[in-house]
Amino acid sequence: MQAKITALGTYVPDRVVDNHFFETFIDTNDEWIVSRTGIQTRRYSAEHEYTSHLCIGAAKNLVEENLVMLDDVDFVIVATVTPDQTMPSMASQVQDKLGLTNAGAIDISAACAGFAYGIILANGLIAAGTHRKVLVFGAETLTKFTNFEDRTSCILFGDGAGVVLIEAAPEGNILAVSAGSQGDGGKDLYMSNQRKQINGVDIITDNKIHQNGRAVFKWAINTVTEQMSVLAKRSGIALEDMDWFIPHSANMRIIETLCSQTGFPLEKTLESISIYGNTSSASIPLALHRGIREGKVKKGDRLLMIGFGGGLVYAGVVLEWGGK
Ligand code: UT7
Repeated sequence: MQAKITALGTYVPDRVVDNHFFETFIDTNDEWIVSRTGIQTRRYSAEHEYTSHLCIGAAKNLVEENLVMLDDVDFVIVATVTPDQTMPSMASQVQDKLGLTNAGAIDISAACAGFAYGIILANGLIAAGTHRKVLVFGAETLTKFTNFEDRTSCILFGDGAGVVLIEAAPEGNILAVSAGSQGDGGKDLYMSNQRKQINGVDIITDNKIHQNGRAVFKWAINTVTEQMSVLAKRSGIALEDMDWFIPHSANMRIIETLCSQTGFPLEKTLESISIYGNTSSASIPLALHRGIREGKVKKGDRLLMIGFGGGLVYAGVVLEWGGK
């Protein structure tokens, strides 16, 4: 049996935050944010709304839009770097809340490449014949880990979630995958883990996102252009024959530079950065869903998805879109 992605769902919190919001407490302005990042708005989760809630929202949307049953899902993977808590896992909470009594459950930590990594793992579980129906989530509440005193990063992040259902089928639709890590770049994008000694014990007191934006920008361009040709070669589909390119939505200028360097047409890219900001592992499913809702992505279209981010890590998937 092969792995087939059959359905997609997404969820974003209600609160819309525009760029003027930041002008009240840091030295920035709408013009800088739009021109340097392409971000116009992003969504913020409510006070008691966490990553697990966003996952449930995305799963409900998947069920409603695709009219599928989830009772026989046998594995749940949640890619996130912003879990409600590290234990229990988001996947176990989702498994419980959705009543998936026969499902295994794990979280994975691969930052903005997490959704693609999750698909790769699900693909392997199904190809190995051990599982038949897997949910893969990319879900984040980054705004709960944002340093609002750092103007270079706080303007970037938003909250959201996406999920795909991947099923065993005689003919799959995942045509190629790739994944890698460059751990020596970890210093350029990380959660701070500030520590304090309390009664002789080392306690983590604070964890906020830190980023050397310029360094990550440069690395992203080099890495993603290389992965575009690796994935084209592995899938046997030339870059120009891909219908849609969906890179992680970190910055509109990254997407534009990738296109200008590879000759890939910008109008054949899908993004979520402009309306949702950088949502890390959720950005690719949010961009894909946007493309489907706008009538751009059709059944049978060939999608090239590449995630990249903190680790530093990257992962890509080429697939023939089979969902509704
Ligand atoms: O999602 C995971 C992967 N992440 C990425 O791929 C992110 C990659 N990096 C980026 O997207 C960009 O580097 C940023 C959006 C983070 C920053 O944009 P940039 O064009 O690289 O800005 P910069 O850091 O080079 O700063 C340029 C100038 C600086 O001023 P000076 O030194 O030239 O006077 C900054 O202090 O812009 C200033 N600046 C700001 N000005 C107004 C930085 N942040 C702001 C701000 N408002 N919010």
